[in-house]
Amino acid sequence: MATKQVKFPDDFVWGAATASYQIEGAWDVDGKGLSIWDTFAHAPGKIKDGSTGDIACNHYFKWREDVSLMKKIGLHGYRFSIAWARILPDGLGKVNQDGLDFYDRLVDWLLDHDIDPYVTLYHWDLPQALQDKGGWVNRDTVQAFVDYAGIIADRLGDRVRHWITLNEPWVAAVLGYGLGEHAPGHKNLGEAIQVGHNLLLAHGLAVPVLRERSEPEAEVGISLSLSLGTPADDSSAAREATNRHDLFMNRWFLHPLFKGSYPEEMEPILGMMQLKREPEDAAVIAAPIDFLGVNYYIRHLVKDGDEFPPVNLQFVKNPEAKYTDMDWEVYPQGIRELLLEVSKEYKPTKIYITENGAAFADTLEEDRVHDTERVEYLRGYLAEVGKVIEQGVPVKGYFYWSLMDNFEWAWGYTKRFGLVYVDYDTQKRIVKDSGLLYKEIIALNSVE
Ligand code: FCB
Repeated sequence: MATKQVKFPDDFVWGAATASYQIEGAWDVDGKGLSIWDTFAHAPGKIKDGSTGDIACNHYFKWREDVSLMKKIGLHGYRFSIAWARILPDGLGKVNQDGLDFYDRLVDWLLDHDIDPYVTLYHWDLPQALQDKGGWVNRDTVQAFVDYAGIIADRLGDRVRHWITLNEPWVAAVLGYGLGEHAPGHKNLGEAIQVGHNLLLAHGLAVPVLRERSEPEAEVGISLSLSLGTPADDSSAAREATNRHDLFMNRWFLHPLFKGSYPEEMEPILGMMQLKREPEDAAVIAAPIDFLGVNYYIRHLVKDGDEFPPVNLQFVKNPEAKYTDMDWEVYPQGIRELLLEVSKEYKPTKIYITENGAAFADTLEEDRVHDTERVEYLRGYLAEVGKVIEQGVPVKGYFYWSLMDNFEWAWGYTKRFGLVYVDYDTQKRIVKDSGLLYKEIIALNSVE
């Protein structure tokens, strides 16, 4: 069979991503305060395999080795997040220098190895002390975040050129406060809507702070979880359900960020849920950003149903498709379709794919991990990213999720997403076949 090469632009950024709670471990070391994920994972019954992130990949102690792995794969960029409670054990007030020192050393070490840091300020591990005062439901948390962002920029802004304020506010709001599947485990849709708003506000207020306290060329953006919906059949009910899916999954956050207001169709729900907001919030949230971070994993086949009331959806399985270990459909062209839609509607000037990847049940075979399914996944999705760039969508970089296997939130260690295999008993790392393929793709700047 003839294969075709898809070339990437010369300045394309090849990277991989992680998040603090998922890899660092050292949950109570060097003055770190508790986060809501420490509390949540320690509570019985919340995590599938009963595990916690107490040790995770022990990255807090193995960061040098982990940077060597990045170098080995040839990454240009590394996206990681900062554990707020390492910096401010109480969420605000007293700064813990040891926490700052950790990220300071990591940034220097990355730069010494020609790897550009892409720093996420909030990947869900809110300091527990702030949760005790209401967490993201409480508008005071917004200012606490902005102060925290300022502290980080003051320390790292002379070297960090890429800031991501928040990771996936939709997930933090809906899974954390609406459905109770993530920390802090609340089940209240009204809270989720308020949390979504407060997160957006925190983002909007942090944007100018990060810019002012970094070098002029620094760029600031946000990472959103966006998913594609396709009507499950050609009924008008399925088409309408797909519109509601788009509204709920994507436009709820995209619209206020890029158009300065919530989508009009959302207003009745916001009213019903008694969202508290100030007239000036909309303009704050719409602060111009330098890039949109897109985390893309999921295409749903959608019809009318009773999931996510009052959005009322039902997801249908595609009998022809392969599914990953997360039960997410493998549908490579979805990433292109989604990016085309988003760029047509919202016209971001620059996009990074800040996450994309797949979990499969990898097994070790004498020091090798032959993760054929991930190899195929990577080729398929990257070819589509290459094509969408040819179609004019300004995708400037791709960060595979994840650099290494790690603590997959409510799933614990049961899902492996890494390019690098982690043996949790010995903390040994092994670059998987997908990692070797990624190295080749990066070196050639093209995919077959
Ligand atoms: C995303 C999260 C990331 C990881 C992947 C699989 O929603 O941002 O931390 O869990 O899913």
